[in-house]
Amino acid sequence: MNSMSVHLSENRRNREAFGSEIAQARHELVAGLSQKSARIAPKYFYDGLGSRLFEAICLTDEYYVTRAEAGIFAAHARDMAAAIGPKPTLIDLGAGNCAKAAGLFPALRPAQYVAVDISVAFLDEAVGKLQAGHPHIPMLAVGADFSEHFALPAEVEASRRVFFYPGSSIGNFTPLEAAQCLRRFRAACGDDGGLLIGVDLVKARPVLEAAYDDALGITSAFNLNVLRHVNALLDSDFDVSNWRHRAHFNEDQSRIEMHLEATRAQFVAWPGGGRQFAAGERIHTENSYKFTPQGFTTMLAQAGFGVTHSWSDAAQQFLVCYARAQ
Ligand code: AVI
Repeated sequence: MNSMSVHLSENRRNREAFGSEIAQARHELVAGLSQKSARIAPKYFYDGLGSRLFEAICLTDEYYVTRAEAGIFAAHARDMAAAIGPKPTLIDLGAGNCAKAAGLFPALRPAQYVAVDISVAFLDEAVGKLQAGHPHIPMLAVGADFSEHFALPAEVEASRRVFFYPGSSIGNFTPLEAAQCLRRFRAACGDDGGLLIGVDLVKARPVLEAAYDDALGITSAFNLNVLRHVNALLDSDFDVSNWRHRAHFNEDQSRIEMHLEATRAQFVAWPGGGRQFAAGERIHTENSYKFTPQGFTTMLAQAGFGVTHSWSDAAQQFLVCYARAQ
């Protein structure tokens, strides 16, 4: 590790802050599970195993998203670099294994790389490996849930901030949350930065539904794993074998919906409470919105961004946009 050391944010956290995060997560989980239509927020997918299952989803034949986006980056990285300009501070939101951003390093030549993710242990490992391979790029790893508030550490360069938000993760928010999120990025990137973002496009139902219900059952395992994570956080007693994965395209809302469906009637307990689920009752775990190019560029403009450049693949499956602050 050189002078441009990795910032392991977990080390900075004191026990008190960590305890209040757990209390907040428990409160949120109980509130969601107690609603008439039970729900678990998709951020709870990403414990250690969940992050690895998501990586495996990206390798399935059916999940075209990752390949389509990678093809666009490979074909247009130089044009993207030209649109972005020299020496950006590259801020990777939901960085995971950091592979996508690392693939752009040769074209973008960032002055600093900042990886942000909820899953801190996974992130620290990934940034540690990446730093070893790129000792000349200063790197920071920041454990944060940027979906709600957005405070970057003082060590993050203020100039030429380019937020990198690939993989159509913006599609996991409601339209209102997505609009708020884009406005936060616009405010945080200053007037000399921008947003490099990937979004999944509307397409034929069978293609969409297969992508979220692959034949190997990896997306099913990813969805079911959220119950293990909830048990760990909430000390609840979900029995994973009593639930099955469901995914369908809701055309009216332009979104894939993922649910967990109870295969039998059961009571699920947690400290201080619990809930009876009927056979067939569902827990809504994720929405994944699909966009049109026109609809998404309009969202960027409404969030206050200026000029937007965009690139797609030959089959128009996916879209990457660089929205300049001005
Ligand atoms: C992270 N996010 C963009 C993925 C998606 O496609 O909505 C999560 C995912 N859920 C099931 N498969 C992938």
